[in-house]
Amino acid sequence: MRNGDAVVELTDVRKEYSDSVALDGVSLTVLPGEAVAVMGPSGSGKSTLLNMIAGLDRPTSGSVVVQGTDLGTLGETGLALFRRRGIGMIFQFFNLLDDLSALDNVALAAQLTGTRAAQARARALELFGELGIAGRRDVYPARLSGGERQRVAVARALMNRPALLLADEPTGALDSRSGEQVMDLLLDLNQIGQTLLLVTHDERLATRCATRVIEVVDGRIAREQSLERTP
Ligand SMILES: Nc1ncnc2c1ncn2[C@@H]1O[C@H](COP(=O)(O)OP(=O)(O)O)[C@@H](O)[C@H]1O
Ligand SMILES: [Mg+2]
Repeated sequence: MRNGDAVVELTDVRKEYSDSVALDGVSLTVLPGEAVAVMGPSGSGKSTLLNMIAGLDRPTSGSVVVQGTDLGTLGETGLALFRRRGIGMIFQFFNLLDDLSALDNVALAAQLTGTRAAQARARALELFGELGIAGRRDVYPARLSGGERQRVAVARALMNRPALLLADEPTGALDSRSGEQVMDLLLDLNQIGQTLLLVTHDERLATRCATRVIEVVDGRIAREQSLERTP
């Protein structure tokens, strides 16, 4: 049964690689405004799950519907457009472009969807202000701290106002203090309505930020728990 309001609806998703089964029948619904944390051992399928939702890879069987669009009906061009416009993604190692300034890294995300350069810069500047990195706009990634790099990556992910923000171990490469700051930032974003799905190893950060925690073991959802979030 399809839930028309869902941001994400996975139905019996299976993903096989040549020598392994990464996802073994995962069904998952994410509603608007949720912050879902995905936990589980290394190699259990967490990144594969995110990549299915991001349209970075396709399931062997089962369906992935994001914002009412069945990704299985999209060709490669359609999937690329979906990735640029429909979702924002942040990664453990930031994935910033080294030869662009912080601001240009962020503005580029909007330019790739056809937004004019001046308008893209204006939106990027607005986000830099909101995320507390306005003073770092002209700095290149190599000169930014890990926490600053991840803030820039969050700004980039938010540029096109995605319905869904996906984060794969966003604090995995950060010291605990910057990790907490990035997690607080994600919490703030969720509290103003941003739907969030994040993979993390850190149970404390997960419970601080998430409204629901799911645990993936051997490619299956083994446990699921809704949380009361205390402000
Ligand atoms: N591109 C790939 N090719 C082959 N096997 C892969 C690929 N990506 C992931 N896997 C395998 O799928 C399983 C799940 O991997 P992954 O989703 O990265 O786990 P996690 O993010 O939980 O650590 C692992 O056994 C991994 O080796
Ligand atoms: Mg992973």
